[in-house]
Amino acid sequence: MLVETLPDYDALSERAARLVSEEIRRRSLRTGRAVLGCATGSTPIGLYRRLIARDGPEAPDFSRVATFNLDEYVGLPPEHPQSYGYFMREYLFDHVDIPADRIHMPDGMATDLDAACAAYERRIAEAGGIDLQILGIGSNGHLAFNEPGSSLGSRTRVQILTEKTLADNARFFGEGETQPHTAVTMGLGTIMEARKLLMLASGTGKAAAVRDALEGPVTAMCPASVLQMHPHAHILLDEEAASALAYTHRDGIAEVKE
Ligand code: GLP
Repeated sequence: MLVETLPDYDALSERAARLVSEEIRRRSLRTGRAVLGCATGSTPIGLYRRLIARDGPEAPDFSRVATFNLDEYVGLPPEHPQSYGYFMREYLFDHVDIPADRIHMPDGMATDLDAACAAYERRIAEAGGIDLQILGIGSNGHLAFNEPGSSLGSRTRVQILTEKTLADNARFFGEGETQPHTAVTMGLGTIMEARKLLMLASGTGKAAAVRDALEGPVTAMCPASVLQMHPHAHILLDEEAASALAYTHRDGIAEVKE
């Protein structure tokens, strides 16, 4: 695992934007396209802001990009302000020249959710797999909406959300707005098939989950610990998110802090 600690959220977002832009360029040159796995939540907003602000030779060419999002609430239509489809349009898709038919979101409105989940998996495979998957981490260690207890081999499916996740995400829902208790999420097995993973974590609220994910045992109790099994996992932390780590992580090796 390549673990990098940046001084603060701005530096983390800037570093992430550089890595994502470079990957889009590299994959586009090599294969004529790039398949990007997108995440939602507060953490990747700084990354998306920087991606859309880049110009000149630095600007990523989204006309060659296809995207697959990690998750979506069940029962929220894409025009609902709290849906992840809406979030992605607001922070990224409406600002780049990505062809609409290359944007893929899990369908939380399908009448047959299981069939929609299977179709999502097929679409990822037809696109040739995900080149770079952007990830955040929940304060309980969840990845996408894979809550503690999720099989490390799980596939795209409907997931019931934990009380902790509902409480963490309640801030996005206004008074009187119903917060869904279920979501469609890529599975951990699906995520692990991406060629590269880029996980971002910021703030003290993530410090314990980051420690468990990077330095604890690989266990379904901390879904993000599955990253330890990926050959190309790059983790960007700010100082606060790294504050509970017992080891220094440099150049892919970990040493006990002095
Ligand atoms: C949500 C998303 C996750 C995200 C997590 C952390 O539950 N489903 O993909 O990583 O929240 O969000 P935030 O970045 O807002 O802390």
